[in-house]
Amino acid sequence: MLLRRDQTDRDRLAFAFADQVAADLGAAMATRGAASLAVSGGSTPAKFFSALAAHDEIDWKRVVVTLVDERWVDEGSGRSNAALVRAHLLQGPAAAARFVPLYSGGEMPAADRIAETNRRLSVLPETLDVVVLGMGNDGHTASFFPGGDTLETALSDPGPALALAAPGAGEPRVTLTLPRLLMAVSLYVHIEGAEKLATLERALGDGSIADMPIRAVLRQTETPVTVYWCP
Ligand code: 6PG
Repeated sequence: MLLRRDQTDRDRLAFAFADQVAADLGAAMATRGAASLAVSGGSTPAKFFSALAAHDEIDWKRVVVTLVDERWVDEGSGRSNAALVRAHLLQGPAAAARFVPLYSGGEMPAADRIAETNRRLSVLPETLDVVVLGMGNDGHTASFFPGGDTLETALSDPGPALALAAPGAGEPRVTLTLPRLLMAVSLYVHIEGAEKLATLERALGDGSIADMPIRAVLRQTETPVTVYWCP
């Protein structure tokens, strides 16, 4: 794992990280003529999304954007990750990107809802070019929450997506599975603040994956992980 802690504030971090992701998307475009990006929701990514959306050198109409996870709420909810992506990432030049939301309405968990999400995800290549994860102070990433009812499957199933409910998750979730996320060409964790750094340090220590599921990302050796952090 590579920890990049050279950015002194959150605006600088957002711009530096956006430059890196834009370069990754450009590299994918140069080799495949298209690019794919899966992002996290929550509160951290808004500034990064705005910085990335301004990259007008990217041919956004050849970029597919999806989420690594979603709260099972419609886009009218302030907790919708899709609404966050639309408000901050799919703006300006990036408005031309194709967005594949994970929420497809109705009640969760329901097998037909996940089947519909997986059907939508089939427009994405198996290997995502860029995956951006966040992390909660309980050690979750994507929707791999401690105590998640399908956590084991979420960490082992090819997916691409499955439903998960957990005491700390609020509403039911849908998440891309770990094997699917680890197929990414570039894999990042984007976190801010002293508390998250302390959480990351705990996650890097001994202990079970069930207690802090982000350990499954940090301990694997298949895909290098770069952590972008600032105070
Ligand atoms: C979500 C996420 C989740 C998020 C972390 C960090 O929908 O909740 O995608 O995995 O990345 O909870 O969230 P914050 O950025 O709000 O701390």
